[in-house]
Amino acid sequence: MLRSMQNASSRASGRSRRSLRIPFRAFDAVCRAVTTYVESLLTDTERRYGLWKSWTVSATRFTAGDNRGWWNSHDWSCLGEEWTPDPTWKASVLNRFLLPFVPPGGRVLEIGPGGGRWTEVLIARAARVYVLDVAEVPLRVCRHRFSRLSTVTYVRGDGRTVPLVERSIDAIWAYDVFVHVNPHDARSYVTEFGRVLRRGGHAVLHHPGHELTTGERALQHRSDLTDLMINEFARGSGFEIVLQTRELVNEGDALTVLRKK
Ligand SMILES: C[S@@+](CC[C@H](N)C(=O)[O-])C[C@H]1O[C@@H](n2cnc3c(N)ncnc32)[C@H](O)[C@@H]1O
Repeated sequence: MLRSMQNASSRASGRSRRSLRIPFRAFDAVCRAVTTYVESLLTDTERRYGLWKSWTVSATRFTAGDNRGWWNSHDWSCLGEEWTPDPTWKASVLNRFLLPFVPPGGRVLEIGPGGGRWTEVLIARAARVYVLDVAEVPLRVCRHRFSRLSTVTYVRGDGRTVPLVERSIDAIWAYDVFVHVNPHDARSYVTEFGRVLRRGGHAVLHHPGHELTTGERALQHRSDLTDLMINEFARGSGFEIVLQTRELVNEGDALTVLRKK
């Protein structure tokens, strides 16, 4: 008798737990949707007014930790060439943006080498190449790919600073990297570029533009950084803007060339 009463009561409490679970899931889904919507309004406002401080919502997205996780688990077997639409496009990027601003025989810093799609060109051109990445796996891929060359230095960074000495670098190259870096960390990098670049040196940076909507940015996996923020950071770090274009980058992105004054 006692056992059957116990069974009946545990069946009843199981039913009530199950019936509680469904409204809880619905409540959770509604809370998530509201949070996502409020976040998208806030990040749109941050972009519109060029807000980039540590307390902004955009500083909690596309962090160094996020990037380390994403790029350490990426399949690097195509060495980043999966993002090259065709050889003509790659040749155009090199001719327009790399060769004019990376002096032969110089010291170059590449941020985010990935599988070494641009690194191989930089190595052939420069006397010394520092490749700095926030993730270990791309660095391991490059170290293996360029193992016969002694002119490359591999640096695992914190995703915001450059552990090199002042005015020791002639050119900086970062393609398909700042599109994934949040405004707060990008601001830190541009300040660091102003410190490590020699006078007259160039930084070539591919980054998001400002036109994409929240949904488009999410689809294209773009951070909340904008071209207008890059311009503000650059001016505050002793740079002049030599070139800013929408050519040869994905729709909604931009590419800026900075020159250290
Ligand atoms: C999309 S891949 C592009 C790789 C290469 N630049 C290319 O165009 O093929 C992004 C690269 O940037 C690196 N990265 C992402 N965030 C970074 C950060 N905050 N600092 C340094 N490297 C970063 C990733 O680990 C990865 O190697």
